[in-house]
Amino acid sequence: MLELNAVQSGYGETQVLHGLTLEAKQGRVLAILGRNGAGKSTTLKTIMGLLPVKSGQIAFDGKPIPARPFDVARTGIAYVPETRDIFPSLSVRENLEIAASRFGAEGADWTMERVLDLFPRLGERLDNGGTQLSGGEQQMLAIARALLMNPRLLILDEPTEGLAPIIVKLIHDKLQELKAEGLSMILVEQNFGFATSLADDVVVVSKGQVVWTGSAEAIKADETAQHTWLGV
Ligand SMILES: Nc1ncnc2c1ncn2[C@@H]1O[C@H](COP(=O)(O)OP(=O)(O)OP(=O)(O)O)[C@@H](O)[C@H]1O
Ligand SMILES: [Mg+2]
Repeated sequence: MLELNAVQSGYGETQVLHGLTLEAKQGRVLAILGRNGAGKSTTLKTIMGLLPVKSGQIAFDGKPIPARPFDVARTGIAYVPETRDIFPSLSVRENLEIAASRFGAEGADWTMERVLDLFPRLGERLDNGGTQLSGGEQQMLAIARALLMNPRLLILDEPTEGLAPIIVKLIHDKLQELKAEGLSMILVEQNFGFATSLADDVVVVSKGQVVWTGSAEAIKADETAQHTWLGV
């Protein structure tokens, strides 16, 4: 579904990805794991067109991915950044309406009603401003907003970061529901248990390259890989 082939990218003169190759498959969850600074977020930003591809290729459904973020989103890839990027001066309702109006088509899978069904908590907070939300509510809003874009691929950067265990569990269960419905996902996580319980496939990134590829089951059983690449 999404293929990166020998991708090089970075920030200005600083190269971070040194020929990164991976594949996210249709209907599956791919976890991208790796230590701090390995290049996980840089990989996602490059996919989304927020950083330019210096060399190599990125293909979505066999076609070269567009260069600009808006066009990438239009091809059906939704991205929940580490920073969540809620509009702080807008209410929950307005944050959701913007996403729905930009990408929600007539007869689309994801409607306002359906995302509020998934996250009833947001329904209670519709008139609250973005800044009045807890970290967990912000994460729910960020995911809800991404779903309203009716993506075929949902990309999440550390969705559990800074959240209390009970909220981590809730986010886990919601992502599990989305997975059960067949939504394809790429998940970047520091939380090894969370990532490997949701993922089908795993790649480990170190210094801007993929150093391990296999199934979630395989990495759970491979203590050497965990120790070498993740410090678990
Ligand atoms: N805006 C930036 N300008 C310059 N260098 C950056 C920038 N953002 C990240 N880097 C560098 O790129 C490298 C990879 O960072 P990246 O954010 O992709 O890591 P990560 O794997 O997501 O780590 P973490 O688990 O801490 O989120 C790091 O060395 C980092 O210092
Ligand atoms: Mg990161």
